[in-house]
Amino acid sequence: MWVPTLTFLLFTLSAICYGDNPGAKIQVTEHGLKKGVGYLLSKIKGNNTEYLLPDVAGSENIASEEIGYEFTQIRIEDFHLGSASSQWAPKTGMHVSMENGNATITCNWKLDSWLIKDGGSSVLTLTGLSISMVLGIYRSDPGVPSISLVECQASVLNVDVQMMGGVSYIIDNIKQPIQDVVRKTVQQQLCTALREQVKKQDQSFSHLNLNMSLNRHVGVDLSLVGSPEISDHYANLGLKGFFHSHNESHSEASFSPAPMTIPVQDGAMIYVGVSQATFDSLASSYYSAGFMTFLVSHMAGSKELTTTELAAYVPEISQHYPNPAPVEIQMEATRAPLVSLLANNMTVQFGGLLQTYANASQTKVENIFSVDVVVSLQVTFKLSEAKGAHGLNLTGSVEFVRLQIEGSQQAITAQKVVVAESGVQQLFHKVIIPVINENLASGVFIPTTFLKNGSVSIEKGFAVLAADLQ
Ligand SMILES: *[C@@H]1O[C@H](CO)[C@@H](O)[C@H](O)[C@H]1NC(C)=O
Ligand SMILES: *[C@@H]1O[C@H](CO)[C@@H](O)[C@H](O)[C@H]1NC(C)=O
Ligand SMILES: *[C@@H]1O[C@H](CO)[C@@H](O)[C@H](O)[C@H]1NC(C)=O
Ligand SMILES: *[C@@H]1O[C@H](CO)[C@@H](O)[C@H](O)[C@H]1NC(C)=O
Ligand SMILES: *[C@@H]1O[C@H](CO)[C@@H](O)[C@H](O)[C@H]1NC(C)=O
Ligand SMILES: *[C@@H]1O[C@H](CO)[C@@H](O)[C@H](O)[C@H]1NC(C)=O
Ligand SMILES: *[C@@H]1O[C@H](CO)[C@@H](O)[C@H](O)[C@H]1NC(C)=O
Ligand SMILES: *[C@@H]1O[C@H](CO)[C@@H](O)[C@H](O)[C@H]1NC(C)=O
Repeated sequence: MWVPTLTFLLFTLSAICYGDNPGAKIQVTEHGLKKGVGYLLSKIKGNNTEYLLPDVAGSENIASEEIGYEFTQIRIEDFHLGSASSQWAPKTGMHVSMENGNATITCNWKLDSWLIKDGGSSVLTLTGLSISMVLGIYRSDPGVPSISLVECQASVLNVDVQMMGGVSYIIDNIKQPIQDVVRKTVQQQLCTALREQVKKQDQSFSHLNLNMSLNRHVGVDLSLVGSPEISDHYANLGLKGFFHSHNESHSEASFSPAPMTIPVQDGAMIYVGVSQATFDSLASSYYSAGFMTFLVSHMAGSKELTTTELAAYVPEISQHYPNPAPVEIQMEATRAPLVSLLANNMTVQFGGLLQTYANASQTKVENIFSVDVVVSLQVTFKLSEAKGAHGLNLTGSVEFVRLQIEGSQQAITAQKVVVAESGVQQLFHKVIIPVINENLASGVFIPTTFLKNGSVSIEKGFAVLAADLQ
């Protein structure tokens, strides 16, 4: 039924952690819960799915006679949940209730007593259906969500039974008592059926693997680090948030995110906090997987550069290249980039080898200079709705903060010239950063069908994505 899908909300929550701090947190506000529950219920309302319910049999004293009854082939033909409301249930999970629903059920019936032996088919119309339940949300080993039906109450205001087949004068006499039996049975069965569904869903959660692969090279561990922290106004779910590359036995022990508290706001439906430690593990995993070498001259937006133009930034080279020759620039990380987050300020520190080459002739490529640099760039992100597709468009830009040449340049033997720090800074400023910005501005498409109106803000130690559910 609809309960399994309800629980998708588990993936959109944040947590208290006994033990490790979460690397990422998801906070779902009341607004988010309402939207999520409403959306799921509306989807189910549209479904004219037939549910086969278990047979019901028993006996009842009707008109001072013990009559055995049996309802088989019970099908819910039509089901309206009525108006739903939902709240967070502090420390437990969520409270969902539905009022004034109705259902049309078909079944076969059989009555059996010493006086009556009769049977046929029937249509039951249930109105004034109400369900109130509390769904508990926990973490279970090894870091997957677990749910249970903590409380459930169901009531049916009115039942109308239309019995086809059978002898009508008998049916007229027993109709009211039969309706009472059906009402009582449905009230009991609804919660039993819900409990079964919740159990099934809980079982499927236990097979989840939240330590998953993103691609052939990199994986991310999004296991829950603790049970959800649930208050009146929001639920917080804490996730490990650790990225790792597959070909490197990364010391997970060095991953220790600082505690983070997402500021309580209620403008958006969900807030996702991502710690500096998680960003660092992301950078580190891509570095380990060998993704941190950039041929600047082959990147989009790069202009063809010659030794003559390069000499404008690093005059030291001019005497070696009287004739202009095409230039190649390559940046290669020599360690994992470091991310630093301050209020409204995300800075990435990139330590790497900057190399320039001249195509002196068709066959001769020579190294002009190579320097180890540490460059700091301030990064700004913007999220917008993607054009022409469901999802978000993440665009960014970088600003030059500083660059230093590291170590002794003389150690690099192949190079032709030794250049000054100011020249390399100029080269970065005027040539490399515009290329990076051109690439960041074209945007990265994030195919998310359930998030919209996203925005990113940077706090001390973490970034926050605020978004609404679709
Ligand atoms: C609703 O219908 C769709 C397609 O008709 C189906 O995939 C989905 O499982 C149904 N949902 C439920 C809760 O039965
Ligand atoms: C059941 O509820 C729906 C939606 O509220 C309504 O349109 C329909 O008439 C109701 N059916 C019965 C039998 O009351
Ligand atoms: C997650 O998976 C990676 C390999 O993909 C493994 O190295 C790591 O130990 C796993 N983490 C946990 C907590 O199981
Ligand atoms: C990991 O694999 C990439 C290629 O997929 C390779 O370039 C890199 O050197 C490897 N790293 C380690 C530590 O083996
Ligand atoms: C320099 O030469 C290499 C190899 O001949 C070639 O791949 C590269 O595209 C050339 N670069 C430029 C900027 O002409
Ligand atoms: C951002 O933070 C870095 C240090 O992480 C600092 O060097 C830089 O000046 C800051 N930028 C602004 C605009 O405050
Ligand atoms: C993302 O935004 C950039 C800049 O506005 C735009 O050029 C690009 O087409 C957008 N991409 C998508 C998928 O919307
Ligand atoms: C988008 O979010 C902002 C702030 O998070 C809010 O002020 C605005 O109303 C939202 N817009 C829509 C269309 O939901």
